Amino acid sequence: MTTTGLVVVGLGYVGLPLARQACRAGVPTTGLDIDEPLVSSLNAGRSPVHGVTGDDLAHMLATGFRATSDDAVLATAETVVICVPTGLTPQGKPDLRAVRSAARAVAGRLRPGTLVVLESTSFPGTTEEVVRPILESGSGLVAGEDFHLVYSPERIDPGNARYGIANTPKVIGGLTPLCAKHGVAFYGGLVDTVVVARGTREAEMSKLLENTYRFVNIALVNEMAVFCDRMNIDVWDVLDCAATKPFGFAPFRPGPGIGGHCIPVDPLYLTSKAQREGFSFSLVSAARQVNDGMPEYVARRADAILADGLNGAEVLLLGVTYKPDVPDVRESPAIAVAEAFAERGARLRYHDPYIDRFEVDSVALDRVEDLPAALAAADLTVLLQDHECYESALLAREARCLLDTRGRVAGHHVRLL
Ligand SMILES: NC(=O)c1ccc[n+]([C@@H]2O[C@H](COP(=O)([O-])OP(=O)(O)OC[C@H]3O[C@@H](n4cnc5c(N)ncnc54)[C@H](O)[C@@H]3O)[C@@H](O)[C@H]2O)c1
Repeated sequence: MTTTGLVVVGLGYVGLPLARQACRAGVPTTGLDIDEPLVSSLNAGRSPVHGVTGDDLAHMLATGFRATSDDAVLATAETVVICVPTGLTPQGKPDLRAVRSAARAVAGRLRPGTLVVLESTSFPGTTEEVVRPILESGSGLVAGEDFHLVYSPERIDPGNARYGIANTPKVIGGLTPLCAKHGVAFYGGLVDTVVVARGTREAEMSKLLENTYRFVNIALVNEMAVFCDRMNIDVWDVLDCAATKPFGFAPFRPGPGIGGHCIPVDPLYLTSKAQREGFSFSLVSAARQVNDGMPEYVARRADAILADGLNGAEVLLLGVTYKPDVPDVRESPAIAVAEAFAERGARLRYHDPYIDRFEVDSVALDRVEDLPAALAAADLTVLLQDHECYESALLAREARCLLDTRGRVAGHHVRLL
């Protein structure tokens, strides 16, 4: 049987950049995904993942990379890395269905000596208590003896031009020291720095700490912004001043809410696990309350800015993605902001160069193309996302009234969050 160095399971925002890095490092790589249209698109050289270009994919295909939905390929792997989604159930609980299903597929094809890595974000214990039993019972092999099991959290930051996979240190937690050693040997060929955690649970928890740290600190500056407005203090100036401290302070920026599939989701993995252990993470719950309240706060501010309130007002939303210059609206706070505006009777349009269709309550909003004309026409413009195309001078000049939730624009008709 011919061997494939690496099989990446799940070819999304995390898996595809990993596969690209492996191809660059000369590792024979195959991608496995259950999404057949995605598989066809990748094999045709089209990448739906922002940051992985058509040229990248052409290079990958030239090195022998192929995507497939046939899990038989797992039988040829020396290393399998699982990068499937870990979202939430409708009840807001961890949804590990994709992880379980990927682990079952791997188990059915597992051979002695294979390194199996979980990269999907999850609560501590997932690798040992969820993935390990599935792999062992499905294969008849023993983790740490017959095959190697590792957890290595993904730290990808879509749109980050400075830090990518290669120059972001990679944390590796092995089930045993030997497992960790195999993990280090694999990732050492792909990234500049590997960091060995004490075990899988420490590696899992480190990822939740990183994202919960962001979640809590964003809540702190959001609440600071709300309070500063009440005190007539310019929170953006406060932040700029505080950020000059060269030690002991890490700057975070307020905004209309948090978005994406990590920062709003990962703290719930932590609190859900804590709950099961009879522990209450009171700080996380408080932070969630603040962050979840921001879209409604933006709507209240907007309502107060307009002499006749939002009812019947023409409102233009600028930037509906969850991150600047990234074409992704998953969990974007713009959705909740738009809902809160619509509830108050505002007539909404949006501008976003990255998003063709943006729905609120299943109704698509009108998308504007001519930004200066739309700014001049709207009773109120709300800058929600910091896309590069939003030049401060243009917004200050053309908008009749602007609510800037990103603290960028100065001017007579501008109100800051
Ligand atoms: N996107 C990020 O910025 C980011 C950063 C750090 C960590 N993470 C974590 O990485 C994991 C993956 O996230 P993502 O953003 O790449 O998700 P994604 O939705 O972009 O991609 C996941 C892919 O997995 C595929 N998939 C689902 N179930 C599968 C299965 N059983 N077998 C094979 N393929 C399957 C899907 O079809 C999809 O293509 C999540 O746990 C996420 O929390 C994401």
